[in-house]
Amino acid sequence: MSDNQILDMRTEKNTGLKIKESFWQKSIKLSLILFAGILIISCDYDRRTTGWDYAGDFINSNAYETYSPNPNFANGRTMQPPVPGTIPRGTMPYQYKKTDEDRALAAQNLVNPLENSAENLSRGKEAYGIYCLQCHGETGDGKGRLFVNKKYTYPPASLLSEKMKIAPEADIYHVITVGWGIMGEHGSMIKQEDRWKIAMYIKTELQKSALTANSK
Ligand code: HEC
Repeated sequence: MSDNQILDMRTEKNTGLKIKESFWQKSIKLSLILFAGILIISCDYDRRTTGWDYAGDFINSNAYETYSPNPNFANGRTMQPPVPGTIPRGTMPYQYKKTDEDRALAAQNLVNPLENSAENLSRGKEAYGIYCLQCHGETGDGKGRLFVNKKYTYPPASLLSEKMKIAPEADIYHVITVGWGIMGEHGSMIKQEDRWKIAMYIKTELQKSALTANSK
């Protein structure tokens, strides 16, 4: 074998290797393109479907979706409002309106059904801190943060006034439930029980501690 022949064999080998390399490179590129293509095809602009799926009956319910149109109802909607007069479980309809007469009637007729216990007072204090303190103040004097820094311009009433000291818990309960004067109703956001607990806390703790503070 001459030197030249050996050289030829080497170059042949080399070129063979090169061909092999580019074949792998090509196939990697090809599979990347294929993968990207599949990815794009499987994208779906309609968010209500998952595209191709396996055992689709498990995924797509035959039932109407909450917000989908529905020919079975007169108003054409799937989600229906509650029947007029429906009372949510655990709530009692409130018969008194936001008037001075009804406030007096409520104060006279309603009685706090809850026991005056440390547990109820502690929840009352907590709920007062969430719903009332920002206006009526930590001590109930009507100088809450919202009023003091002038974000709320109308003076929130003092809950320690002579008028409020005479008023029963039901009077406070009524004001929380339907509001009074410029103060809005809180009945829709505070549970009935918590409204009684707040009233209990104002009478039992805030007004009592105001008494001891004054006598010092
Ligand atoms: C956004 C501020 C604000 C919040 C929150 C608020 N109040 Fe009031 N409240 C007022 C204002 C203002 C008045 C006075 C209304 C008026 O004179 O027209 C008032 C009046 C009252 C009165 C009547 C006082 C009186 O002398 O007749 C009571 C009782 C009362 N609030 C209790 C509460 C309780 C309890 C909470 C929490 C559940 C609460 N308020 C939450 C602003 C607020």
